[in-house]
Amino acid sequence: MPYETILVEKREAVTLVTLNRPQALNALNSTVLKELIEAFAAYDADGSQHCLVLTGSEKAFAAGADIKEMQVQGFPDMYSANFFAGWEQVTRTRKPWIAAVAGFALGGGCEVAMMADFIIAADTAKFGQPEIKLGVTPGMGGSQRLTHAIGKAKAMEMCLTGRMMNAEDAERAGLVARVVPAAYLLEEALKAAETIASMAPLAAIATKEMINASFEMGLAQGINFERRLFHGLFGTEDQKEGMAAFVEKRPGNWTGR
Ligand code: HXC
Repeated sequence: MPYETILVEKREAVTLVTLNRPQALNALNSTVLKELIEAFAAYDADGSQHCLVLTGSEKAFAAGADIKEMQVQGFPDMYSANFFAGWEQVTRTRKPWIAAVAGFALGGGCEVAMMADFIIAADTAKFGQPEIKLGVTPGMGGSQRLTHAIGKAKAMEMCLTGRMMNAEDAERAGLVARVVPAAYLLEEALKAAETIASMAPLAAIATKEMINASFEMGLAQGINFERRLFHGLFGTEDQKEGMAAFVEKRPGNWTGR
């Protein structure tokens, strides 16, 4: 079924999802959320797909949650609908995904990019949490994920002043994995996704799970969790294949089992 606000394309083992509301700088309304939940769930369930790239346009990854949609809402509406809770479903995607960000990633746009396993930014990217200028605060995890990513001082400054951070500063602060020239953003993000998709699929999921666990667990508990998942992979065909391939000096041929 075609989507209204996103484009979804499978490129061999990589799913490319493009936010497509150019008239609103990809503002994230409830249709976008509904469609992203569907597309991410389809990706997770599709055995032929092993990495996903989420991107926007040259001008904007996404300029935030849709202000026009939120403007008329009152507390009872927001609270009873548990507004924004649906985004948790996107963060529960088990397989890897990358955000490829060019232009504005503001408010909810920055928050969605931070939900990705990592961000590759174009040199035109601008990150910000300007909600305070609208009389509110981040509401899709920004106060937590941004603080984890760049620390209290920079997160406080961004959220209290609404100041945007450019791509170079974002890389220096640890918000993005890498900055590339805008013209090569998609190419570079797809290349990274293809590399990930060429790895043993269960090892990729386990890697993601253990790194994400570091946000929830203490060091000893996290290391134990890592070790258990590592041990578990020795029950897979792909561990036997990967180590045999190394010894036999050939590429691994993964089954995902
Ligand atoms: C709805 C938006 C929008 C948004 C832009 N548009 N951002 N519509 N929600 N978040 C619409 C504009 O209304 C306009 O449509 C069209 O997109 C083009 O935007 P312009 O402002 O004309 O473009 P430009 O002058 O280039 O400025 C770009 C911009 C600016 C700096 C990114 O659009 C801007 O400041 N946007 C809002 C950024 C923001 O505050 N984001 C946080 C949202 S709150 P029309 O039809 O009018 O021409 C958020 C909250 C999360 O994300 C949780 C807490 C509630």
